[in-house]
Amino acid sequence: MTSSTTNNKKINADNAIDVDIFRKNILKWYKGHQRALPWRIPYGSKTKPDPYHVWLSEIMLQQTTVPTVIPYFEKFLNLWPTVHDLANAEQDEVLKEWAGLGYYARARNLHKCAKSVVSEYKGKFPKDQKALESLSGIGSYTSAAIRSIAFGKPANVVDGNIERVMARVFAVTDPMPASKPYLKELAGLFSHDRADAPGHYAQALMDIGTSICTDSPPKCLLCPVRGQCEAHKQGIAAELPKRVKKAKKPHKHGEVYLIHDLSTKSLLFLKRGEKGMLGGMTGLPTSNWDISKNDVKAPTTIHKHPLKHTDLLVKHSFTHFDLMLQIKEAKLKDGTILPENDHFWVKYCDIEDLGLPTLFKKVIKLLKF
Ligand code: ADE
Repeated sequence: MTSSTTNNKKINADNAIDVDIFRKNILKWYKGHQRALPWRIPYGSKTKPDPYHVWLSEIMLQQTTVPTVIPYFEKFLNLWPTVHDLANAEQDEVLKEWAGLGYYARARNLHKCAKSVVSEYKGKFPKDQKALESLSGIGSYTSAAIRSIAFGKPANVVDGNIERVMARVFAVTDPMPASKPYLKELAGLFSHDRADAPGHYAQALMDIGTSICTDSPPKCLLCPVRGQCEAHKQGIAAELPKRVKKAKKPHKHGEVYLIHDLSTKSLLFLKRGEKGMLGGMTGLPTSNWDISKNDVKAPTTIHKHPLKHTDLLVKHSFTHFDLMLQIKEAKLKDGTILPENDHFWVKYCDIEDLGLPTLFKKVIKLLKF
């Protein structure tokens, strides 16, 4: 592994790198190439970023791409222009508007965090790392992003893009994910107290990671720091960062139930429990989801209906497993069935307004009403 010292100037054992020239090159490039994103302010502008916008965007950007986030970010700001508005919203409303972004714990934490910022900090996001990280949904990455982008603090922001840039600049050949702490340490050498425009610098590195220092092949000829990149010099940029092969995701099986009330042209839905996958979201009734097909069972509330097999299957990929759901259907002829527990009927024409998670949208898409 390449060695480092902490004098902020010479970091690479055999190839010196000038931290300040590196930062200058990055920021000069950013001036002409900054992505115009709705939560950003232009580099060079005197306007200060709104911490609420920065926080909201960073929570949405956790595990989600920029193009997916943009319309959600704009919609949330339209619905809830300030952190006070968001704190005053109903949790169900926030979850509904979040539908489709995935990782629904983020939406619950987002709402909780807004409430704490209002009740504990009078609606002003704290600047302090400890205080920020005590808020729901804010971990070390998000706190660093908020401190640098919203408050101009020299926090060490390291996302996947920045890890890749560091692995190449320093030709780190140790594989990810074990090399992550080292890559973070290397990134930290550029985030010293005297550095200007910390937020712009962090976002510039993200943009370079997205558009130039791409996974493979990197577009080194366009890179403003190729002269300082050890991997480029060695001709190994495309091979880095090395990764150990990921274990295959497990496959789970389950059933999803379409219980129709033909008399009212409605379908049965439920509010899922707060804990577990898609917690608190509206969904169709399902069985348990299990590795073994034989252990899949309908809940008793559903089992009593005259369920018929369909030939329809829906596959969905979660972060830690792939799920295959077999669709079963029951068509009830009268409206006498009282929905139990958290179940409720929704008219076919109102299903679109439910704000369903993608898994259930896929099921509904297969239906012909
Ligand atoms: N990913 C996380 N934060 C980001 C930001 N501020 N700009 C672009 N991509 C990001």
